[in-house]
Amino acid sequence: MFTKITVVGAGNVGATAAQRVAEKHLARTVVMVDVIEGVPQGKGLDQWQSAPIEGFDSRVVGSNGYEAAAGSELFIVTAGIARKPGMSRDDLVKTNAGIVGSVGKEIRRVAPDSIVIVVSNPLDVMCYVAMQATGFPRERIIGMAGVLDTARYRAFLAEALDVSVRDIQAMVLGGHGDTMVPLVSCTTVSGIPVTQLLAPDQLDAIVQRTRNGGAEIVNFLKTGSAYYAPSAAAVQMAEAIVRDEKRILPCAAWLTGEYGLKEVFCGVPCKLGRRGLEQVLEVKLTEAERAALHQSAAAVRDTMKALG
Ligand code: LAC
Repeated sequence: MFTKITVVGAGNVGATAAQRVAEKHLARTVVMVDVIEGVPQGKGLDQWQSAPIEGFDSRVVGSNGYEAAAGSELFIVTAGIARKPGMSRDDLVKTNAGIVGSVGKEIRRVAPDSIVIVVSNPLDVMCYVAMQATGFPRERIIGMAGVLDTARYRAFLAEALDVSVRDIQAMVLGGHGDTMVPLVSCTTVSGIPVTQLLAPDQLDAIVQRTRNGGAEIVNFLKTGSAYYAPSAAAVQMAEAIVRDEKRILPCAAWLTGEYGLKEVFCGVPCKLGRRGLEQVLEVKLTEAERAALHQSAAAVRDTMKALG
């Protein structure tokens, strides 16, 4: 258990993440920070009052300032505006870069040794903004996208095959956008290649639905984007770090030559443990998958240019 985990942003993703962190006993104190007066305090108090029912001892508190976050070992950054129908994640870049940049500076000030999980969109570019603002090494700035995209892919596969989600092993790499790369060649159902169980056109449809997974929900909700699965994904990463699990999860990492890519954040298989990003695993991809990964990284670079 950590002493303190801070979730930045008390909107739907942040508040749900804070609750999941508390219910999993990942930290003694869970802090929610948000600029809107009263919201983190109210949501934090409400969550804390669920503790006697749910049986957790994590103390949840809300704050408008960062003093409450001082000494946090881990941050989950969800601050920023969410997509509305018709918007791409990239449409958020300028607004959210300003927000994530100032959050990063506060994190550096109150918790210079912490690990940061970035959730704000456009994800890969916001990881870069957070790295610049905190000055942290790549081991301590990790982006949440691949775990979410993979969860969507696994859910759709389980549905199509009518099998348990637990028996679907898969990974979605690349940037968190339309160019993400579901690794069909590495997808198995209890070790059986999925290509033996589903026809190519069925797989193509699932890959396409995965790429569109976030937008499908935005179109339903109309006023915001997904939050149950995104918060679950961020907290799975947090749990791997807190409990030093050495889990292999697809996360956005700053690449330094892996997969022939460098100086860009992109989703790749990562080992997460107490030190944060402990290793980037380089797996053998098909030619098409490698090309798609490079195309996805190029799309991230394009969005980085919008930062100026
Ligand atoms: C999604 C948003 C959170 O994929 O990026 O739902």
